[in-house]
Amino acid sequence: MSEKFKIDRLSWQGDGIATVRNADIFIPYTLPGETAEGNIANGICNDARILEPVQTRIKPACRHFKKCGGCILQHANDAFLADWKTQLVKDTLSLNYIETTFRSIQVSPPNSRRRAVFSAKRTKKSAEIGFHKQHSDILIDLLECPLMHPQIMQGFDAFREIAKLGCSRKTEIRISATVSENGLDVDITDAKDLEPKQTETLAQLCAIHGFARISWNGEVLAQLKPPIQKFGTAHVIPPAGSFLQATPQGEAAMVSASVETLTGCKRVLDLFSGSGTFTLPLSQHSEVHAVEFAPEMLDALVTAWRQATGTKDVTTEARDLFYRPLLLDELKGFDGVVVDPPRAGALEQTKILAQSNIKKISFVSCNPATFSRDAKTLIKGGYALDWVQVIDQFRWSSHVELVAQFTLARS
Ligand SMILES: C[S@@+](CC[C@H](N)C(=O)[O-])C[C@H]1O[C@@H](n2cnc3c(N)ncnc32)[C@H](O)[C@@H]1O
Repeated sequence: MSEKFKIDRLSWQGDGIATVRNADIFIPYTLPGETAEGNIANGICNDARILEPVQTRIKPACRHFKKCGGCILQHANDAFLADWKTQLVKDTLSLNYIETTFRSIQVSPPNSRRRAVFSAKRTKKSAEIGFHKQHSDILIDLLECPLMHPQIMQGFDAFREIAKLGCSRKTEIRISATVSENGLDVDITDAKDLEPKQTETLAQLCAIHGFARISWNGEVLAQLKPPIQKFGTAHVIPPAGSFLQATPQGEAAMVSASVETLTGCKRVLDLFSGSGTFTLPLSQHSEVHAVEFAPEMLDALVTAWRQATGTKDVTTEARDLFYRPLLLDELKGFDGVVVDPPRAGALEQTKILAQSNIKKISFVSCNPATFSRDAKTLIKGGYALDWVQVIDQFRWSSHVELVAQFTLARS
């Protein structure tokens, strides 16, 4: 039976929530303040019809919206999304009784996503490339994507050819595409092994489409030009398929915030350094020791640093910071740290940082929940959380990132 309800708020995942008979009902693709009607089953209404829209509602930018699981909030305007994402971080911090100053959110524009991992499968006539439908294994074949950098969309014809080569009848492959200074850097995984002739075809595709590099199941098969990423004055060639901040605007905002926090520090630690996104710009001002789990990322960092100009000393260390965080003794002699952990956060390392005498910490996070936990540990240890800057590299999704500045407040 169809029921009428009013949306109160959004869930952490971006679904509208209405209270019906004292229970929370989730209604995807609705906004707070809207009146809607539809059938409720198991606490969800999947067929809501909007009766009274709000002014924050806009026309979605993409024809695949609601089918493709890549975006869940294209129906809300930018001002609404900026407030909602900032509030998500505020609410998460308040669960740990943390209050601080919030700088204005930095949102990456449409068509700025420079790295994405697509799924691909063969069809009878061609191949399909895209993202899965939300909570489903149905692949949505993308004809457009207003998130992506145009170079990535231009690669789709080649990706279809690649899928025909790499997919067996029923399996999907993963295609990771990264915009580099010299064209796309394309990394294929979960693909079947290629015959020698197919390898030739792949090298031809790389040349015809002007890709910088194609790698297949971890092995570089063709490199026409080095797939360079510029970090500060250095030109890095990251390992195929490795982590890179999702948009250049997001990266620039994070780096500039960290440089601001750590300006004046003589010796800086970059924990979870990757291929040097922070290390290399920071090395223009300070000596930097970069610590990271993946040795091949550190090799790329050091090779680029050796050829860069205007940088101070950089050293590296391959180390698992979850199991072997830097100890208090090892933190001596550093006056600044940038920490940029994966979603799990940096619990063990933060516990030790909290006891240290390091003056400034720039904390970069892609998960407000683990950040809030780690921030609480630092604050308990005598650090002040000066400010948080929310960074939105994943517009139209519920994903949110941030940079924060901590200063040692105990004597
Ligand atoms: C969010 S990325 C940040 C990378 C880099 N700071 C950047 O901005 O490009 C997290 C990094 O942590 C590394 N990592 C993941 N688990 C780790 C661990 N247990 N110990 C050390 N590094 C780890 C990953 O390889 C990845 O490079």
